[in-house]
Amino acid sequence: MTTHPSRRALLRAGGTALLPGRATPAAAGAKLRPFGRHLAFGADPATQVTVSWQVPGPVTGSYLRFGTSPATLGPPVAAEVRPLESKLSWQRPEEHDFPPHAPATHTQYFLHVRLTGLTPDTEYHYVLGHAGYDPVTADRLGEVAAFRTAGAGGPFTFTAFGDQGVGYNAIAAGSRVADLAPAFHLALGDLSYAMHEPDGKPASEDFEYDARKWDSFFAQNDPVASGIPWMVSLGHREYEKVHGSTGNGGAKARFSMPDNAWSGSTGIYSWRYHNVGLLSLDSGEVCYRFPAKLDYTAGRQLAWIDAQLGKFRADPAVAFVVVCFNHSVYSTGDRYGAELGAQEKWAPLFDKHGVDLVLTGHNRLYERTDPIKAGKGTRKVPPGGAVAARTDGTTYVTAGGGDRLSTRSSRTRPRATWATRTAPPAPR
Ligand SMILES: [Fe+2]
Repeated sequence: MTTHPSRRALLRAGGTALLPGRATPAAAGAKLRPFGRHLAFGADPATQVTVSWQVPGPVTGSYLRFGTSPATLGPPVAAEVRPLESKLSWQRPEEHDFPPHAPATHTQYFLHVRLTGLTPDTEYHYVLGHAGYDPVTADRLGEVAAFRTAGAGGPFTFTAFGDQGVGYNAIAAGSRVADLAPAFHLALGDLSYAMHEPDGKPASEDFEYDARKWDSFFAQNDPVASGIPWMVSLGHREYEKVHGSTGNGGAKARFSMPDNAWSGSTGIYSWRYHNVGLLSLDSGEVCYRFPAKLDYTAGRQLAWIDAQLGKFRADPAVAFVVVCFNHSVYSTGDRYGAELGAQEKWAPLFDKHGVDLVLTGHNRLYERTDPIKAGKGTRKVPPGGAVAARTDGTTYVTAGGGDRLSTRSSRTRPRATWATRTAPPAPR
């Protein structure tokens, strides 16, 4: 005969723990597993790495523990919390309509820990936790991730693409990155596709934005970006008018790039990995087709590009200079084509400082130019050929095939010239 404790006895003993088949009530947040881990190098990748992640709901006491082996993790390092609230009225869901009882907002919780003073050329392991969620338990050993700081020099591999989005092709692209085991990945803008074709218009019934795409994006990339720094540039789809007048409020919450051009220079930064100096720019500032951010820094970015390229070229530790942003300077893609604003305003600086390589996305295809100087190709360079940027000019690559290439193709046609150009907007 089975007997059951009385309700009074249960209350005295602490409640449901005594009920057969019921688990001990979890502490608040105990089941909210951290997700969407993504890394970023600081300006000095030998000693600086930022670890960023999300939690699915509000928790307290988020932290990171790290060490040079999973068995020697140090004490918790408190995380910075950057909540980001998006009104559901802004959003057009792809999967289903919102039920009547749905909340009016979707709040995302982004956590960040900046690690400095790391040892160069060293592998670090880390785990993430919060109050009620201890990552150092036997059933969570799979949650230990690892990254490696830069060394003093030597050959290395990096990968780059833009226009990744979310989906099975995007997962495949990430897997290819993981298999190549690069020192870092350059994400050339148009990241999650939470935003469709932004042009600065206010929220309206045809305004397509779904903040939850970012949840999918970070969850999708977690297996790769948790171990390989994912250095992000902002594309035209990262212009989110809903998150601040500059459209950068969402990016500020989600990412912790070096952003060292000036205080608050979101997505605009420089760093050096071994003998390569890198710049990330916000090409929304020179985009005529979507002029929402046109000239939004009032010349500040342009002056910084000139100054920083000059610093790199004067630095004996820098042998190559690579510049990353979203809009294609030269492209035959017929979805967006080439961006005349970038040709007019930035290409002269790339000529002036002998930039070796410009990497962009935006058009969903792969193209590599011969070296270009003063707007003209200087000589034919076969695959694998060498280019001397100061004399030959800059090589421009469009690599916008992170996923959307196969789902919404640009359907490029061979053309004899770098033909498609976008005209500057009419004076406002
Ligand atoms: Fe774009």
